[in-house]
Amino acid sequence: MRDPVFPHRHLLGIEGLNPLEINHLLDISEPYIAFNRGPDKTANDLRGRTIVNLFFENSTRTRTSFELAALRLGANVINMQVETSSVSKGETLIDTAVTLNAMNPDVLVVRHPDSGAVKLLADKVNCSVVNGGDGSHEHPTQALLDALTIRRRKGRLSGLIVAICGDVLHSRVARSNFHLLLTMGARVRIIAPRTLIPSGIDQLGVEIFTDMSKGLKDADIVMMLRVQNERMRGSFIPSVREYFRFFGLDRAKLSQAKPDALIMHPGPMNRGTEIDSDVADDYERSAIREQVELGVAVRMGVLKILAGNNAALNATAAVAGGGK
Ligand code: NCD
Repeated sequence: MRDPVFPHRHLLGIEGLNPLEINHLLDISEPYIAFNRGPDKTANDLRGRTIVNLFFENSTRTRTSFELAALRLGANVINMQVETSSVSKGETLIDTAVTLNAMNPDVLVVRHPDSGAVKLLADKVNCSVVNGGDGSHEHPTQALLDALTIRRRKGRLSGLIVAICGDVLHSRVARSNFHLLLTMGARVRIIAPRTLIPSGIDQLGVEIFTDMSKGLKDADIVMMLRVQNERMRGSFIPSVREYFRFFGLDRAKLSQAKPDALIMHPGPMNRGTEIDSDVADDYERSAIREQVELGVAVRMGVLKILAGNNAALNATAAVAGGGK
């Protein structure tokens, strides 16, 4: 049976999901946190299922997190990295997807440097697809793990002031978080140099600041973003030193936020560029390690729901097609 609250085959983005669906994904994931802290870390939820991690972009943390999530649910997992695949030999994205699809996986987790590539691929396969990050578009499981981290620490999402700071222009993490946080009733501020603010962003309903001390005032959550040098063509920031001086999080700037404000960062961090080690490693205030931990639980929740939906949808299709 398809999940009654989240009946979709794919998770391609947060945009378009409603509060009930978001809360449901968080609720399904939450029990896995305690499970992952226990001694026996293998469940049977996905026994016999095949999960393929198809990564066209370098990643350690996200790929490992999905891999552990699948293994802990009892699934079989394989990892395909772009360097070892035939993509480098000129095979197209779609050919790769269709070839993999013919091997009957249950869920494909896909990361790709181009925005929209994961959706394109999802349209060509008959298994579930999770977007593990596409260009600067969306990274839905990151926003979900951020939301679960905030919900556990603050008890809610609605009404909180969340300041998202730094390289918003290139960040799929920021985009997925805007959609999620605004849908859940949080107040979202972005703080960035003008060159790193996407045009038209004000239409989403976020408040825009170019001054850290003003933007951080009374914030409940301070979410720092990595400066994504690999996506910058041209000069967006004058120098690391200059960037840190105006937009790097340190104690002095943090003092503008609420005294119990939570510090977050999706990783990997550029210490000394967007964040000072002194605040990143302050585990009273910083939830950065917790984000990584909860990421596995969220991916377990997502994989479990999608694999169930996929099986139900394919069973229905088989009946409709005369059992073929
Ligand atoms: C993020 C990503 O890849 O979008 N990292 C991650 O998922 N661990 C953020 C980033 O790379 O800055």
